Amino acid sequence: MPLLPILRFPDPRLKKIASPVAQIDDQVRKLAADMGETMYEASGIGLAATQVDVHRRVVVIDVSEERQQLRVFINPKLTRCEGVQAGEEGCLSVPGIYDTVERAERVTVAYLDLDGQSQTLEAEGLLAVCLQHEIDHLDGKVFVDHLSQLKQSRIKAKLAKQARVTA
Ligand code: NI
Repeated sequence: MPLLPILRFPDPRLKKIASPVAQIDDQVRKLAADMGETMYEASGIGLAATQVDVHRRVVVIDVSEERQQLRVFINPKLTRCEGVQAGEEGCLSVPGIYDTVERAERVTVAYLDLDGQSQTLEAEGLLAVCLQHEIDHLDGKVFVDHLSQLKQSRIKAKLAKQARVTA
């Protein structure tokens, strides 16, 4: 299965709003499988389709230690958010940058699985953070959008410098 190239912040395509998946067909299943492989290869814990320039509402997550519990969320929607937690986040689209973001402590997410069945999941801690982070991507938001303008400018400058060094 091919690895997919990951868009890097501040690529404007990361701001696109993803469309709901109308039908779960082989194309969607292949996308989810390729996204899983891409996420594992990049040592990430979550990846949204937006990050691989596919603007459909598909997210993959694996927060397990063993890295063998791939979760696929199609058309995920937060139906309940409770409490507050603040933790350090990073993103495969913003390499080498980590900062603290406030998120809900507990969430309930409604989604379709790969068989097209409606599911709900209650999550807390890291999984809850990851769901909020990935659903943000589907809505065209990157975690740095939660930071101050000053921090965002610094991050852009740092990433531009990295790009020059590696080019
Ligand atoms: Ni991300």
